[in-house]
Amino acid sequence: MKNKLLKIKETAFQEINKAKDLRVIENIRVKYFGRKDGLLTKVLRGVSDLPKDSRKEIGSVANSIKKELEGELEQAIRVIKGGKVSEAAFFDETLPGKKPPEGHIHPLTRIKLEVEDIFKSMGFEVHEGNELTNLYYNFLSLNFPENHPAMDSYDTFFIKEDPKKKIGLKDRRVMRAHTSNMQVKIMENKKPPLRVIVPGRCFRHEATDASHEHTFHQIEGFVVDEEISIANLVNTQKELLSRIFNKDVKVRLRPGYFPFVEPGFELDASCVICEGKGCSVCKKTGWIELIPCGMIHPKVFESAGYPKGKYTGFAFGMGWSRLAMMKYGIDDIRLFMSGDLRFLEQF
Ligand code: DAH
Repeated sequence: MKNKLLKIKETAFQEINKAKDLRVIENIRVKYFGRKDGLLTKVLRGVSDLPKDSRKEIGSVANSIKKELEGELEQAIRVIKGGKVSEAAFFDETLPGKKPPEGHIHPLTRIKLEVEDIFKSMGFEVHEGNELTNLYYNFLSLNFPENHPAMDSYDTFFIKEDPKKKIGLKDRRVMRAHTSNMQVKIMENKKPPLRVIVPGRCFRHEATDASHEHTFHQIEGFVVDEEISIANLVNTQKELLSRIFNKDVKVRLRPGYFPFVEPGFELDASCVICEGKGCSVCKKTGWIELIPCGMIHPKVFESAGYPKGKYTGFAFGMGWSRLAMMKYGIDDIRLFMSGDLRFLEQF
């Protein structure tokens, strides 16, 4: 029975396709849907006499064929009458297309690319660096004395070592707590003049909150040559910040302590949200603490094996997540690594 129906459908479609005038269409309609002898009408009428188990299936096949044929007839009538196509089949090529879903560049990657471009235009090289490092590159080479409490503030993740291997303090492996771990490593392999940035992930055993994450992003930078001064440091940062925030950003230095710089500073930027007038982001001070920095300590040059007193340089380490938060008005650092598409799709 089902085959018979499909055959009816096939012939009907062929007939409709060949039809060139309304009279032929009307004949086809009568042939299949005529009240008395219509081929489909007969089948539909007979459905209730079929055995119970095939009744449902045949009924629904016959009905759907009926609908298809009716649609096809209607369409054929329209075409014959005015050469017009039905609304459903009408394709308006002037309508704007549907945008397929696109991937997004993560907001942190965006800022990274932007910062890299700015530094490259100032002649800096970009290095990636190791995330797994050792106590020497992470601390000791940077003038943190052995067992000095300054290391405590870095909440470092140590890698479990085999106690039988008797690994010395210098070689104890750690996940880098800051991207400064690349300073000496790069200096060991390159002679000044040096202009380098190292964007990368850092890891600390933090109690996480809106401004602290166990995995966060920093960009370390340093410049070494024979006559590098604090003025070079200040100008480089001012240029960077003004280009990132597209406005003239003022900067100021306050003293800060880091074992690997002397003098060390906290560089503040005029608040990019209120432009220095005072708002909740800058806690009404008009300034935001943004970039710790300083003049590279002679002990660091000593670790790198540079001749004593020959070079000077500046270094800085900025929270690159922090820059992204400022630029895009994000108030919780944890959103970056949350993988939450509602957040990510906004960029
Ligand atoms: N590495 C430091 C930190 O994570 C930040 C820093 C301070 C980097 C001063 C520097 C610097 O290069 O000169 O706390």
